[in-house]
Amino acid sequence: MPDKSPKTIATINFKGGVGKTTVTWCLGDVLSSTSNQKVLMFDLDAQMSLTQAIALNENTGQLYDQFDNWYQTSLARKKTIFDALDAFTKPVQHFDFAVGYDFIYQISKEFHFIPSVEDLYWQELEVFDRDGVKDFIRRLLGKIANSQKVARYDYVLFDCPPSFTLLSYSVLSCCDLILIPVNPDFFASRGVSLILHSLRLRIEPHPLPKIGVFMNKAKTFANQPTKEVAFYMREVERVCSETAQQQRINARFFSSYIRERVAIKRAITGGGVPPELISDFQNLWKESVAFLNE
Ligand SMILES: Nc1ncnc2c1ncn2[C@@H]1O[C@H](COP(=O)(O)OP(=O)(O)OP(=O)(O)O)[C@@H](O)[C@H]1O
Ligand SMILES: [Mg+2]
Repeated sequence: MPDKSPKTIATINFKGGVGKTTVTWCLGDVLSSTSNQKVLMFDLDAQMSLTQAIALNENTGQLYDQFDNWYQTSLARKKTIFDALDAFTKPVQHFDFAVGYDFIYQISKEFHFIPSVEDLYWQELEVFDRDGVKDFIRRLLGKIANSQKVARYDYVLFDCPPSFTLLSYSVLSCCDLILIPVNPDFFASRGVSLILHSLRLRIEPHPLPKIGVFMNKAKTFANQPTKEVAFYMREVERVCSETAQQQRINARFFSSYIRERVAIKRAITGGGVPPELISDFQNLWKESVAFLNE
């Protein structure tokens, strides 16, 4: 039997507002709507920006009610990611949490979603300990893969918060690829060095997954990155390869980048991926999959 377990990709950066949430959603949307691959996406941010944007989908008034009704049922039946974490960390008991479509929301036939809940703030208090939570995501993915009630997913995407939470620890210690979006600004290369070092410190002694760094919000002129953007791309690439070598981690800077387009601001709430950016996301996918398969 070929290995059918899904490839898992987490988007993270400790800098806020670089486009983690937007890029994660656009990647999922582009892949699931232009191929027959099935994608499952997690919102792990207690700020819930992805969940709120999906709830606010203005494309069809219907979807708004549809998500909201589904979400209320999921809360009432105790079928949220927090309830799953709660079941996982219950002392002595085995991990008792049935996975079905009251836990996973179907945005479309190929694109499914596990929303965030405010309760995720609690995981940052001393209620849970690091080692108690470490295997949570791996075990939950196992339950999803074994459930007869939900789809077989090809890819699982995680939108991580801009801080290092217990849930991000659980994701980052088991995922196949970490994607780090950066923006063309003064902080880009410094930020990459910081995040690569701190990921290593925090995930050790677990081996670090592959790490792909790419430029988001790239300004272009005549379809090429502007001189300024090209400068920051070179800087980030240099820091990335230096840090990878020093720290012995498999990190690289991707040549694909996502252009800056105002229309992307409405992508999740109903505008969809701006048509001129679809090829950017397809290129990012191709480069990510090639790296995953190396
Ligand atoms: N390629 C792009 N072009 C133009 N605007 C973009 C692009 N990518 C993201 N943005 C905008 O940048 C802002 C921040 O994006 P987003 O919320 O995805 O970042 P984030 O890293 O998830 O933030 P947080 O750290 O708060 O979770 C949003 O207004 C979003 O629409
Ligand atoms: Mg976000």
